[in-house]
Amino acid sequence: MKINKLDKDNIPEHLAIIMDGNGRWAKKRGLRREQGHIEGKKSVKSIVESCIELGIKNLTLYAFSTENWNRPKIEIDFLMQLLFLSLRDEIKNLNKNNIKFETIGNLERLPKKIIEYLKKVKKETKLNSKLTLTLALSYGGRKEIIDVVKKISDKVKNNIISSKNIDESVINNHLYTYNLPDVDLLIRTSGEKRISNFLLWQIAYSELYFTKKLWPDFRKKDIHKALISYQNRERRFGKTSDQIK
Ligand code: IPE
Ligand code: IPE
Ligand code: MG
Repeated sequence: MKINKLDKDNIPEHLAIIMDGNGRWAKKRGLRREQGHIEGKKSVKSIVESCIELGIKNLTLYAFSTENWNRPKIEIDFLMQLLFLSLRDEIKNLNKNNIKFETIGNLERLPKKIIEYLKKVKKETKLNSKLTLTLALSYGGRKEIIDVVKKISDKVKNNIISSKNIDESVINNHLYTYNLPDVDLLIRTSGEKRISNFLLWQIAYSELYFTKKLWPDFRKKDIHKALISYQNRERRFGKTSDQIK
């Protein structure tokens, strides 16, 4: 039976979002791409609030990919500055709302000032427990897997792990997301139907939701719609429908 009202007992534990379409949002209005990023920041705020209201415990947002380093320097610089100002403005709210802030990705490529500030925000929010908000910054799924392989092979070489004991849990424990559960629901805005090198291992059994809405237009009612879609699916994990019931 199709449900059309949110079921509070079937909320994803981990929601991940590919926030796409800022540039197109701006272009449609005759604005500079930068304006789209500024407006997109408001959507981040609105979706974080929704997660708290709905009881979603983990939200992971794709903010900047390893491939995004290939954008024009002027746009990269703008995004970095926007990130810095957002962190500075929001640190108080993170604590007020009991939000733990985390990052995944290769932070060493970011400007020093931002690396320092990210450290500070993580440290000052690390005891919060209502929502874990993870920003994927300079993140690439393939790079993450390469790093896992390196970490594990070092441990094998040093006799800390035996190669015959490598299983899914060993891989999970060496991912950037070692402290997060698998992604239950992955949303991508802007109409593109691709993963763009986001959480490759972690989405093995995620439900996927694609919407044409551009990220700056994606707000509370849109997340409700995505959740209703999620709740109308049967997650079988390879079993038969009868086994699930
Ligand atoms: C997503 O919006 C934000 C980042 C990737 C940083 P885009 O900037 O990719 O917007 P479009 O896809 O060009 O519209
Ligand atoms: C994916 O969006 C990365 C982020 C949302 C941060 P892109 O706009 O960079 O992806 P492509 O180029 O359409 O694959
Ligand atoms: Mg894009």
